[in-house]
Amino acid sequence: FDAIEVIRAKRDGQRLSDEQIDWVVDAFTRGVVADEQMSALAMAILLNGMDRAEIARWTRAMIASGERMDFTGLRTADGRPLVTADKHSTGGVGDKITLPLAPLVASYGVAVPQLSGRGLGHTGGTLDKLEAIPGWRAELSGEQIMRQLSEVGAVVCAAGAGLAPADKRLYALRDVTGTVESIPLIASSIMSKKIAEGTRALVLDVKCGSGAFMKDEADARELARTMVEIGRDAGVDTTALLTDMSAPLGRAVGNALEVAEALEVLAGGGPPDVVELTVELARHMLAGAGVSDVDPAEHLADGRAMDVWRRMVAAQGGDPDAALPRARHTQTVTASHDGVLTGTDAMAVGLAAWRLGAGRARQGDPVQAAAGVELHIGLGEPVHAGDVLATLHTDEPERFDRARAALADAFVVQAPDLARDASLRARS
Ligand code: URA
Repeated sequence: FDAIEVIRAKRDGQRLSDEQIDWVVDAFTRGVVADEQMSALAMAILLNGMDRAEIARWTRAMIASGERMDFTGLRTADGRPLVTADKHSTGGVGDKITLPLAPLVASYGVAVPQLSGRGLGHTGGTLDKLEAIPGWRAELSGEQIMRQLSEVGAVVCAAGAGLAPADKRLYALRDVTGTVESIPLIASSIMSKKIAEGTRALVLDVKCGSGAFMKDEADARELARTMVEIGRDAGVDTTALLTDMSAPLGRAVGNALEVAEALEVLAGGGPPDVVELTVELARHMLAGAGVSDVDPAEHLADGRAMDVWRRMVAAQGGDPDAALPRARHTQTVTASHDGVLTGTDAMAVGLAAWRLGAGRARQGDPVQAAAGVELHIGLGEPVHAGDVLATLHTDEPERFDRARAALADAFVVQAPDLARDASLRARS
């Protein structure tokens, strides 16, 4: 084969053969297919799509580009076999669910090997959030992951460089060539890492709305279906939930701010939308691992999830009692008129948090632990002119102006009558 032949085939709308797919992914991993050739192929895939068999083969080829983890021999410290369950979110604004979820599921005796990533663009990354905890480290060896799973039950850490290396290189190219938003490429990217990671059960949280990759529901549904098929074909008990990302999750967006909110949830409080999604995802992960008939909300209320959190953070060098970093500067955003808050745009808030320093523009850039946006008023709540809608946090005050610009149309405050009419229309 040669790369041009494969690119032309997909450019002209043909399906790629198993042999072509295996060759091109392997040759790209070895550096034989150049970055610009793979970028052209990614664009052809984005424009012309792939069928189910092509996506399955592409995923297998990406898994085969690296090593696979194996948790089948995993045992508790006292010798009982451990089943693993994992979740993956397609990414959103204020999505700190992994933080309370991993220890919550582990508190029921199911091991959670949560290999996570860093944020890019307006969406946050779980590792950046946890790194706000003084001392906490993301890099663990395979042996350390196994030991922590057996002793604590939950681990959230960086995926090793050996796991689906083809995806790591391809994702970096897609990020700079406008080829992220392709269902076959997103599905194979996510599932190659999850299958290589070797979890027995997987719950996918597929986000839909302004703050997500998938803005409309039909696309989100198609992405969810594609990933569930890939997972099940590979023997992973896979389910998917479609959840809203038109408004941020919870009230906190930004690394340390989100850790603080996760701690509220682990202490039995926290915003209702974060608690609800955490409990719902826990229920599905536990069911996938064979634990049903439990109400996961109980271990949030009685502190057992918090106990696992503390041990999980400490096992990775973090101090669960240390004060979280606070930004050197804050400013507020206030309401200009009375009414009811009917919308908080996830994309705008994500962008503002990013501009305040919570996210990175390029891979490898540092992030500010304390930067972000704190929201004070929930959807459907009354607002009076002058009320504080949000507090902006940053260490660099020159960032405020661009963050405020991102938020110019983020909050929709409607007159109470209009808001009531809109909600009646939405319900009918
Ligand atoms: N997350 C991934 O890991 N890959 C994608 O392509 C998109 C989101």
